[in-house]
Amino acid sequence: MKIGILISGRGSNMVALVDAAKSDEIPDSEVVVVISDNPDAAGLSKARDRGVEALVIERKGRSREDHDLEIVSALREREVDLVCLAGYMRLLSPEFVNAFPARIVNIHPSLLPSFPGLDAQQQAIDQGVKISGCTVHVVDEFLDNGAIIVQQAVEVRDDDSAETLAARILDREHIAYVEAVKKIASGRLRIEGSRTVFSG
Ligand code: GRF
Repeated sequence: MKIGILISGRGSNMVALVDAAKSDEIPDSEVVVVISDNPDAAGLSKARDRGVEALVIERKGRSREDHDLEIVSALREREVDLVCLAGYMRLLSPEFVNAFPARIVNIHPSLLPSFPGLDAQQQAIDQGVKISGCTVHVVDEFLDNGAIIVQQAVEVRDDDSAETLAARILDREHIAYVEAVKKIASGRLRIEGSRTVFSG
C-alpha cells in the first residue's frame, strides 16, 4: 500500500507513520510522499531525513479546488493508495475527497464527535470533560466528520492546560494512527453506513 501524507507543521504523526511502515509494523506499506502546504513546516526535513520525498505545494492565492487538484495530481503520479492527513490545516474540497473515495483518513485530538475544529484540547478543558483523547476517521467533505476507525481515551486532569493535555493526547495519537493504518492495510476494514467495521 502506497501512502501519501499531508502536513502543515511539526509532523510528529507523519514520523510515526513513516517509521511504522519502514519497520514493517505496518506490513506491506510505504510512505512514498509527504506534501506540505506550508514551506516552513518542520515536518518536511523530518521526512527527508528518513529518505521520503517531501514536496511543498502552496495555495498561493489559488482557489481551494485548484490547489487541491495539484495535490491530487502529485498523489496520483506516485500511485498513492491511501492519503493520511496529519496536522494538515485545510479543509479538503469535494473534488479532492471524491478523487480518493474512502481512502483519505485524518487524526483529530479529541473524541469525536465532541470538539471538532481548532483548539480541541482547549475546548475539552473549557467544557470540563474528564476524559478526552484522539480519533482517526475517514475523511469526507465536512470538518472532522466521517466514519471513526480508532479512538484512544486520555484522562483530563484538573490541573491540565491545553498544552499538557495536548502532549498527553499526542502520545496516544502516534499509537492510534499506526493502529488505524494497520487496519486499513490489512484489507479487513470496511465502511458500513456511518461506521467502520473490522473483521479481525
Ligand atoms: C495533532 O494534534 C493532530 O491531531 C492535529 O494536529 C496536530 C498535528 O501534530 N490534527 P503533528 O504535526 O502530527 O505533530
